[in-house]
Amino acid sequence: MKVGIIGSGGREHAICQSLKISNKFTEIFCFPGNAGTSRLAQNINIDLNDFERIKNYILEKKIDLIIIGPEKPLVNGLVDYLEKFKIKVFGPNKIASQLEGSKIFTKELCQKYKIPTANFRICKNKFDAKEFLENTNYPIVVKADNLASGKGVYICENKTEALNAVKEIFDGKFGKANKLLIEEFLKGEEMSFFTIHDGQIFKNFGTAQDHKRVLEGDKGKNTGGMGAYSPSRLINKELENKILKKIIHPTLIGLEELGCKYRGFLYAGLMIVKNEPYLIEYNVRMGDPECQTILPKLKSDIGEIFLACCNQKLDETNIEWFDKKSLCVVVCSKGYPENFKKNIEIFNLDKIKLNKNDYLFHAGTEVNNGKIFAIGGRVLNFVTLSDNFKSAKNIIYKNLNDLNWTGGFYRKDIGFKVIE
Ligand code: AMP
Ligand code: GLY
Repeated sequence: MKVGIIGSGGREHAICQSLKISNKFTEIFCFPGNAGTSRLAQNINIDLNDFERIKNYILEKKIDLIIIGPEKPLVNGLVDYLEKFKIKVFGPNKIASQLEGSKIFTKELCQKYKIPTANFRICKNKFDAKEFLENTNYPIVVKADNLASGKGVYICENKTEALNAVKEIFDGKFGKANKLLIEEFLKGEEMSFFTIHDGQIFKNFGTAQDHKRVLEGDKGKNTGGMGAYSPSRLINKELENKILKKIIHPTLIGLEELGCKYRGFLYAGLMIVKNEPYLIEYNVRMGDPECQTILPKLKSDIGEIFLACCNQKLDETNIEWFDKKSLCVVVCSKGYPENFKKNIEIFNLDKIKLNKNDYLFHAGTEVNNGKIFAIGGRVLNFVTLSDNFKSAKNIIYKNLNDLNWTGGFYRKDIGFKVIE
């Protein structure tokens, strides 16, 4: 059978790598993929906004299954569109993708189904927001409703910062805004909790913690993710049961009442406060770079799992894992998450010796005449599985030393909470 992957990041390279060792597929297509996937699959350069061209290509090549990696095509309804042409797709439909596409949709669901989350207020204009901000406690969090690549969230220490956030959002920094969200600041530790769904049942798909800030010590600007580790140091059986009972199950009931069955990965971004979970956000996909830490631990055939999800047979499929710790360090272009130069050549990639438990997933890279160039903010992901986080970290930083790429930078303290 043939499989296609939509996306071009580290997450999609990791999915591609897992599909390469699947017994189910003989050919892989990546839309558009990166330099890393080009070694495992056929990269197809189609604009991801052009649903019709994507569909035509899939039908022409008779691709049996499509996996959608990033949120944007999901929120824009690529699943619904491809299904009209009887194409098998792994990913949630447009309604279910509102869980990520609209923070207000999710907050209203939380309210209706009593899902624990930060207290919040929806504001319809600047005056409404200003009035609320006059008499509230700080810090407070101001959020744009729509997809903003992680940039639409402001943690505000005082009224001046909060009013500035409100102004930027209503002035259209993240697209047209009719509403915004102001919410209570929760103090705790964040954790990512993943599940995989077939429209009827779901199974757990691991936990992780990521480092979102650009600077060491979790300081500086927010990014897509500078590194991650799996499993989360916070997870235990009691917490897992609470997450399932108080958050995941009521969410699925809420979706069902909207006539919607969830198929795909679901990623709950949680704040854990004294062993109690609060929902910060939902994402309707795997995390990036969390996915790069989780998939290498998967013992079962991912192709079988994806097919089972599309055929509503997940209950007949076992998901088994290697009992390992996994760490990922992301290499970024200098300047990220702000301005950075593109088309900088990456040397030395062939000097890196990867052992059985080491992975090098590409993100913003491109091959040109056999040379590899950085074309994005996040460029490479170094992942190692080991019996403990410390030895995984040592191996990764040795490999990064061998790379010695002057065009990029990385954080030297990934996993500091789980490594003395
Ligand atoms: P989001 O895009 O909603 O996940 O927010 C981005 C980041 O902002 C989260 O990963 C948290 O670190 C932080 N954040 C968002 N909402 C809150 C909150 N209510 N309390 C504390 N931190 C928050
Ligand atoms: N690592 C955060 C995300 O994928 O949204």
